[in-house]
Amino acid sequence: MSKRVAILISGGGSNMVKLAQSMAGDHPARPVLVASNDPKAGGLDRAAEMGISTAAVDHRAFKGDRPAFEAALSAKIAAANPDIICLAGFMRVLTEGFVRHWEGRMINIHPSLLPLYKGLHTHQRALDAGDQEAGCTVHEVTAALDDGPILGQARVPIIAGDTAETLAARVLVQEHALYPAVLRRFAAGERAPVYLP
Ligand code: GRF
Repeated sequence: MSKRVAILISGGGSNMVKLAQSMAGDHPARPVLVASNDPKAGGLDRAAEMGISTAAVDHRAFKGDRPAFEAALSAKIAAANPDIICLAGFMRVLTEGFVRHWEGRMINIHPSLLPLYKGLHTHQRALDAGDQEAGCTVHEVTAALDDGPILGQARVPIIAGDTAETLAARVLVQEHALYPAVLRRFAAGERAPVYLP
């Protein structure tokens, strides 16, 4: 029985598209929902074009009441009855209650080599620190932000003259390879981390 996957997004959804495209053939999982906190997220249209059910819960309508926002989001997610949640460019920080409910079944991609640069502006911080390399990490989601067990990482060189934008574009290419590779293993019950060259 293939695993049911819900993907949460906030923006264009390029990682979501790569995940959904990868779940074909003998893959142990299938996408059953793409949901967003922004009804205008471009990724919702891309998911609909791929024939995947979509849902949107506008966090702004809850005026900072995170538990109420999450209760509405959880109702949409529960209706799709997923086994796994993939956060793919989902930019809302989830409360401990939501995370505890999905612990061990929810993963996230973060655009840095965790534990370096948790939070935002990861590429600029790597440049400001004079790092030689950067990358991305897929990890299990726990209550502490960007802190859960690492399931995979991919590295890229930082090149002279790089800006946060040029570095982000190079890292995104690796994200699109890493996240599907990790999801296939995670859906098959494998937790040993994978490192892309
Ligand atoms: C990705 O770089 C992801 O690591 C970060 O947000 C970006 C989302 O890109 N959290 P997309 O919406 O998947 O194209």
